[in-house]
Amino acid sequence: MSSLPFAAVAGWGMAVPRRVVTNDDLAQRLDTSDEWIRTRTGIRERRVAGPDEFTSVLATRAGREAMERAGVAPDAVDTVIVATCTPDRPFPATACTVQANLGITRAGSFDLAAACSGFVYGLSVATAMIKSGMSRTTLLIAADVFTHLIDWEDRNTCVLFGDGAGAVVLRATDQPLGLLASNIGAWGEGETLMAVDAGGTRMPATPELMEQRRQYVYMNGREIFKHAVRGMCESSERAVAEAGCRLDDVALVVPHQANVRIIEAIAKRLELPMERFFVNLDRYGNTSAASVPIALYEAEQQGRIKPGDLVLLTAFGGGLTWGSALVRWG
Ligand code: ACO
Repeated sequence: MSSLPFAAVAGWGMAVPRRVVTNDDLAQRLDTSDEWIRTRTGIRERRVAGPDEFTSVLATRAGREAMERAGVAPDAVDTVIVATCTPDRPFPATACTVQANLGITRAGSFDLAAACSGFVYGLSVATAMIKSGMSRTTLLIAADVFTHLIDWEDRNTCVLFGDGAGAVVLRATDQPLGLLASNIGAWGEGETLMAVDAGGTRMPATPELMEQRRQYVYMNGREIFKHAVRGMCESSERAVAEAGCRLDDVALVVPHQANVRIIEAIAKRLELPMERFFVNLDRYGNTSAASVPIALYEAEQQGRIKPGDLVLLTAFGGGLTWGSALVRWG
């Protein structure tokens, strides 16, 4: 297969569960309030998946829309990547289930685990595969049902997260479009700051561990906050510099949607006005890997991104992981 130097974003899609859970809903059964959640995070409501809305279901909906928008037939897709930390099952990969659901018959398919940084990691990997000639048309989906990992009695974490999926189709092109520069990073020692301990091979879920609620996420919010700001700022500056651009050239920053105060801190440190940042976490909370592509989708829908614009994507998550990507839209 001959290689083409760029991977344009040819289509995009998103899917969220039906059920809306507001801050007031949470305040009815937890020691919290709409006022606390709004002022500390910016979140007003989130979507929570029902039993029939597991990861591959949301991923398939988002993927189908992205393919329709790109005008790509199932047999043209040669790679399917699903970025998720909440797969349907330990195996097979959720990407294989999605491939079957979408009638894609001749694609290599795999999952990618980088928590909330999954979409930016996936975009870097998918673009590298296209640039190398290994793939020509890739369906990249980021999907998480993060509420599966949530202890609804833990007010420190349960107010922050929601469920969803976002997708893009990337297509090989000789036009200078798509990912211009990106970097990904990780700091494994930071695993103590945020994790789910029980349920894997290191600590199989036993009744005793489940009694201790170790199958749910725990998080040192204040430490994560500091690492998130530093990680996203430094990797954003690097991506923009490596593309030979300046931050001021960026039309819109689409950051991971965890907390509006994290986004405000990034804006201040990068000396960019908040108007240059897209924020939709008020309606979805933190949807983990899906947050960046859902935000990208809505930014396009609202006319905040136009063909030719430079869009900076930046994310941070458990691992710890982070990454940034400078994209020429169109
Ligand atoms: N309602 C009311 N009070 C609460 C709640 C709540 N939902 N949650 C915590 N509190 C209390 C705490 O118990 C604490 O009380 P104390 O002082 O009596 O101990 C108080 O509020 C203040 O807590 P802080 O931790 O100082 O609050 P902070 O302003 O730091 O906000 C938050 C906490 C929102 C978690 C913030 O630190 C944050 O957003 N951190 C980043 C988290 C994040 O982005 N995680 C996702 C990473 S991405 C991924 O991979 C999935």
